[in-house]
Order: sequence, then C-alpha cells, then structure tokens
Amino acid sequence: ILVPVILCGGSGTRLWPRSRAAMPKPFLPLVGDSTLFEAALARCPGSGGFAAPVVVTGHKHLAHVEAQLGVVEGAQVIVEPSARNTAAAIALAACRLPEDAVMLVCPSDHHIGNTEAFAVAAAAAAGLAQQGWLVSFGIEATAPETGFGYLKRGEAIPEHGGFRTAQFVEKPDLERAKAFLAEGIYAWNGGIFAFRVKDFLAELTAHRPDVATSVADAVAKGAEDGQRFHPDAATFAEVPSVSVDYAVMENTTRAAMVPADMDWSDIGNWQALHEALESDEHGNSVRGSGTVEMVDCRGVLVDSDGPRVSVIGLEDVIVVVDGDDIMITTVAGVQKVGNLSGARNQ
Ligand code: GDD
Ligand code: MG
Repeated sequence: ILVPVILCGGSGTRLWPRSRAAMPKPFLPLVGDSTLFEAALARCPGSGGFAAPVVVTGHKHLAHVEAQLGVVEGAQVIVEPSARNTAAAIALAACRLPEDAVMLVCPSDHHIGNTEAFAVAAAAAAGLAQQGWLVSFGIEATAPETGFGYLKRGEAIPEHGGFRTAQFVEKPDLERAKAFLAEGIYAWNGGIFAFRVKDFLAELTAHRPDVATSVADAVAKGAEDGQRFHPDAATFAEVPSVSVDYAVMENTTRAAMVPADMDWSDIGNWQALHEALESDEHGNSVRGSGTVEMVDCRGVLVDSDGPRVSVIGLEDVIVVVDGDDIMITTVAGVQKVGNLSGARNQ
C-alpha cells in the first residue's frame, strides 16, 4: 500500500502578515481556492492507489488540520506533543504503519502546478521504494538557492525512470550551491520522499539510533483517541531535533531520485508566491478580496484582505494588507520579511 504522510509543522514568518503563528502557510488558500494542506491531500486521492493519509502535526495546528481534513475513513492524525523536526515526524508515522507500506512523505507548504506530473513521479517513486530505495523528488535547479537540499544525479535505474542519488547535500553555502548549479547534474530536493516503512526505519536506526529508539518508545507509550494518536509527551520531548535530510538522506547509500517537472514552488517568500500566481501582461498579480487599482506598474503584487489598494508607477514591489498590518517590500527585500518585528513578535 502507498500511504500519504502529510507533514504539517512550520511557523508563519516569511509570508507575514498573511501567514501568522496562529494561521500558518499550509492552512491558507495562497494559490487558488484550496489551502496548501488541502491541495496536498487532494494530490493523493483514495482512488489513485493511495491509502487514507497519515497527517503529522503539532497540537497548535490540530484544529486547522481537523477542520480541513474532516473525518476520513482510515486516516490518522498524529499529534506531536512538541516539535522535534522532520526525522522524528516521519518516524512517528513509520512506527504507526505496517512495515511493508510505502510512505509518500509530502510537506504541506508547497505549491505544485502540474498535478499530473506529480502523479507520474509519485508512481515512479513508489516503484523504486518497493525495491528498497529511499527516493527523493528532484526539481530542476534554476538558482543557487541555499535553503534547499541538492541531489547529485548518479547512474540510471532503468525500470522506473529514476537515478541513484550519488550525493545528497542539505542546504549548502552559496559558493557550493553555485558550483552545483554550474555542474548541471544537481537537482533540488523537493522535500517529497517515498520509502518503505522498514527501509526508512532501518536507515534511521543505522544513522540516528537515538532518534529511532526514542520515537519508537514514544509511540509504544502513546494513546489512541479516535482518528488521533498521541505519542507519549515526556518521551517525545527527549527525541533529538534533526531533519530527515541530515539524519537519513545525506547518509544512506540507498538514495535514489525521480526527476519531477511539476511546476513546483515551496512558496518560501512573497516573491515566490508572486511567481506562482497568475499575472497580467505587465507581470502584476493580485490576490485577496480587496479592490486593487494599478497604474503604470510592473511586476507588482498586491494582496489585500479588504481595504482598497491603489498603486501608481511602481516596479517589482509587493504590497500586503492583512487586518491592521500593512507590509510593503521590494522584491529584493522579501528575504527580510521574517525579521520584521511584526513577524517575530506574534
Ligand atoms: N509535523 C511536523 N513536525 N512537520 C514538520 C516539522 C515538525 O517538527 N518540521 C518541519 N515540518 C514540515 C514543514 O511544515 C514542511 O511542510 C516540511 O516539514 C519541511 O520542513 P521545512 O522546515 O519547511 O524544511 P526546509 O524547507 O527547510 O527544507 C526541506 O524542504 C526543502 C524543499 O522545500 C528539505 O527537505 C530540503 O532538502 C528541501 O530542498
Ligand atoms: Mg520548507
């Protein structure tokens, strides 16, 4: 069986003021009508060979998750008593599933424009996972981003159109990222993974036995409550905080990748959202319910939750109105949004 494991963690700083601690990115309808979380669920429909999903989230986000998930036959919501990063979150799901199940781990903070291409890549990844590979989705690298993992394409694995991952480098510095881009055989890690439960747990045990044992212990002492599962809080609090990329993917010798050309964006900042939205012939885009008037503007994004916004003669500027907050930045400034006091002191 192929089980979608949807990770819902995250805080809301880089897309402030729309994304906030109380209502972070996964639960907002950033592109189109569905929220990113709803879209992640919809990409893995029950009819497409997927079992009911496992959602791993913190108690802070439980209300949003349950409101948007609803009650789904066979679904599980694993409620983390504290945030211990993605190695632990994935291990929680693994410990709750049959050892031969293939997990398709999906972050809930991405936009994927081409869902058919996602389905094709997911099928290929699942096929490789059945053979014991730990599979990443490779996204064509178009800039020396330092916030992503990089996958070096190794030899082809013919049956499923995949490749061995010759090297997995999580978040390189700018110099290395530039070198990877120049080499042309590195893809970004899309943060979507496929592996069998038993293979993931074996690799986690080999490389981070501390994480593997403490998560298994927290699950053994946990409690079921209808669709919810609560790992033991005191035990889980002791789990080392490390991402799956550092804990497993950088270290395993069974890493593979499937190229996925699926119009992917992690919507990591306001400019990335600007690019994911449809724009007019001047490159301007608008979202939100407020009326917007733009005159002689180019590359401007206006997002207003109500107030009318009128802009004249600006280029490459982002204007966001949310409640009592107005945030205006140049495209060059989007990386600093998370450092604004409004974003930090929520
Ligand atoms: N449940 C749960 N618990 N989810 C979590 C936790 C946690 O403790 N920590 C993170 N997540 C979720 C996030 O909400 C997100 O959906 C996903 O796991 C990935 O975490 P990020 O914190 O967003 O990771 P990243 O963006 O720095 O890096 C990862 O994604 C990149 C692509 O977007 C890595 O996998 C990179 O290699 C990759 O390129
Ligand atoms: Mg991310």
